[in-house]
Amino acid sequence: MKKSKMNIIAFCGSPRKNGNTELLLNETVRGIEDSGSTAQVFYLNVMNIQACQDCGGCNETGKCIFEDDMDVIYDAIRKADRIILASPIFFFALSAQAKLMIDRCQSFWCEKYLLKKRVEAGKFGRKGLLLLVGGMKKDIGVTSSEACAKAFFRTISIPEHDTLFYLKVDQKGDILQHPTALKDAYEAGKKLAAAD
Ligand SMILES: Cc1cc2nc3c(=O)[nH]c(=O)nc-3n(C[C@H](O)[C@H](O)[C@H](O)COP(=O)(O)O)c2cc1C
Repeated sequence: MKKSKMNIIAFCGSPRKNGNTELLLNETVRGIEDSGSTAQVFYLNVMNIQACQDCGGCNETGKCIFEDDMDVIYDAIRKADRIILASPIFFFALSAQAKLMIDRCQSFWCEKYLLKKRVEAGKFGRKGLLLLVGGMKKDIGVTSSEACAKAFFRTISIPEHDTLFYLKVDQKGDILQHPTALKDAYEAGKKLAAAD
């Protein structure tokens, strides 16, 4: 019998190509690939995603009225067994790129809480991973980003997620000097891709 493959997607919320978030995420993807799975990465900065207008268009349907690159993301979120959200901390919060995508998931919120329909899990269940990188040593950005990411994950029916965060990582490529970050991210990828 053919083994069914786990469906894994990732969102990269950094605008910086080959920046710290992307380098960290690459290691998680490598861990996933070494486990025999693949991950589809959405680079949010280069996608056409309009900001939620709070128009109420999704209240009764659970569907957003806009047609843009969120169409492909909505579909991917629905089908995913594992979802990774990777973002730099900007002004004590997730990046605007990540937040644009998250706000547009209000349609999932309406579907879950108003229409009482959740996204059904497949046989692997649904799990998440949050990767955060910040340049400062203050961890307030981690606390607020984590709160937002948790609301996102629960809204899209991801009941549990792990978080890895790294502070005092500021200049492009600084993450490469961190003593454990790349290894942690790789191991987190392996853990995420495990079936149990
Ligand atoms: C607009 C902006 C706001 C930032 N705000 C914070 C912040 O509030 N807290 C923090 O720890 N780092 C902050 N930083 C630093 C970035 O989080 C840091 O440089 C990070 O390594 C960027 O990741 P990247 O290389 O993936 O883009 C900010 C950077 C920018 C550009």
